[in-house]
Amino acid sequence: MWSLQNLLFIICRVIHVTGYVGREVNVSCSYDEGYESYEKYLCNNDCGDSDLLITTSHSSKNKYRIHDDKTSRIFTTTISDLHSVDAGKYWCGVTIFGIDIYTEVELKLVPDSCCDTVTKVQSYEGYSESVSCPYESQYHNSLKYICRGNRPSTCLQQALITSDTKQNGRFRLDDDKMSGTFTVTINSLTQNDSGSYLCGVQRNSDVDVFSAVELEVEEWCCVKSTTINGTAGYPLTLQCPYPRQYRHNSKFLCKGDHRNNCTKMAVSQRRFTLQDNATSSSFMMKITALEADDAGTYWCGTDSQWGVGNYTKIELSVFLQHTRKIPDAALYVVYTVPPVLLLMCLLVTVYKNRCSRVNEADDTMSRNTPKEKNIEEVMGAAESGVRKLKCKALSEFYA
Ligand SMILES: *[C@@H]1O[C@H](CO)[C@@H](O)[C@H](O)[C@H]1NC(C)=O
Ligand SMILES: *[C@@H]1O[C@H](CO)[C@@H](O)[C@H](O)[C@H]1NC(C)=O
Ligand SMILES: *[C@@H]1O[C@H](CO)[C@@H](O)[C@H](O)[C@H]1NC(C)=O
Ligand SMILES: *[C@@H]1O[C@H](CO)[C@@H](O)[C@H](O)[C@H]1NC(C)=O
Ligand SMILES: *[C@@H]1O[C@H](CO)[C@@H](O)[C@H](O)[C@H]1NC(C)=O
Ligand SMILES: *[C@@H]1O[C@H](CO)[C@@H](O)[C@H](O)[C@H]1NC(C)=O
Repeated sequence: MWSLQNLLFIICRVIHVTGYVGREVNVSCSYDEGYESYEKYLCNNDCGDSDLLITTSHSSKNKYRIHDDKTSRIFTTTISDLHSVDAGKYWCGVTIFGIDIYTEVELKLVPDSCCDTVTKVQSYEGYSESVSCPYESQYHNSLKYICRGNRPSTCLQQALITSDTKQNGRFRLDDDKMSGTFTVTINSLTQNDSGSYLCGVQRNSDVDVFSAVELEVEEWCCVKSTTINGTAGYPLTLQCPYPRQYRHNSKFLCKGDHRNNCTKMAVSQRRFTLQDNATSSSFMMKITALEADDAGTYWCGTDSQWGVGNYTKIELSVFLQHTRKIPDAALYVVYTVPPVLLLMCLLVTVYKNRCSRVNEADDTMSRNTPKEKNIEEVMGAAESGVRKLKCKALSEFYA
């Protein structure tokens, strides 16, 4: 009855199904109106009597289960405990008088692991880190998600966040459709966040697409340096984590090429605000509008007396957004000099604040250093003598 050799014709449609080795797969076949009450089955090889795997008359047999949804006219066979030998050709059949109706099914099996290439991301306790997941342009509107581990088959089910949610606790997902990349940002990292992650893109007609990421979160004590790129005119936050047990210590942030003689940042400046967050064991320096002169090396920690391994070193680069549009040097001066002067004068004010604090706190700074000389020292970073003079003049004005 089921023998294919007797067939005069086969409905020439092939259903492609992909399953994961070790998991289960659903093989769904539709049928035409009028066949609702007929028996359905799945068979392989020649569909002889011995090739019959399961029929709707006995809906469960060995590793096969079958369910006939008569409303949508689709019957689904679930094959569980998939092994590589299960891959290959199957037939969905509807038993009718005479010649049965067949649909060809091609089952492909893929390993339930991913991937050949793994992107490594390194970060530190208390930091925020972003994981970039590129995808092909045809998946613009598909669901994106990320999960822990290395199992594609259960990834969506156990997703930490999907593009339907955008924010879920410490996780945020941003989908940049222009560049074909979605980014998952994890806040307040702990060492528990270390491990494998899978970025997934949902597909309707086939298994989802994945890329693998390995995140390594290091202990705070091992922080050595981070690099940050900022854009002039835009706000920026410098993050400085510290070990929880030192949360009551004073915090510091200073600027300079060398830790031992860097200049402390005064948070009294209007552009800078310092925000301590004992919960996440970190403090943040927020700069409202970045200026070119903010570029440089910063150091932060909770006690300036600590050994070198206990600081965070931040190297900040500042990029001008519209460098190409500036036509000549004259315009450059117009746009650039006033903020520079302003910054320098702020620095002078800061330096004075610092001076008085340092004098109160310790004696490493000489009290006898002439004021003028101090100002010049602060200005040491400036390239132009003219600017130096102007600033000095202004500082006298402020004094
Ligand atoms: C197969 O279908 C059943 C019933 O709709 C569903 O519960 C199960 O998750 C499906 N399995 C797979 C691997 O899609
Ligand atoms: C890290 O994970 C372990 C087990 O997975 C858990 O017991 C522990 O509380 C977690 N620690 C933090 C800080 O979340
Ligand atoms: C910063 O910019 C430089 C030069 O454009 C680039 O090489 C570097 O990768 C950037 N770093 C970060 C952290 O974006
Ligand atoms: C800061 O310290 C470094 C290393 O000790 C030294 O090379 C550098 O000249 C010092 N800079 C100033 C301005 O004192
Ligand atoms: C401090 O950090 C915790 C944990 O990351 C966060 O929930 C909270 O909003 C933060 N508080 C402030 C004031 O930023
Ligand atoms: C960090 O500071 C603590 C306390 O002073 C010290 O015991 C530890 O050795 C320091 N860590 C490093 C890597 O220097």
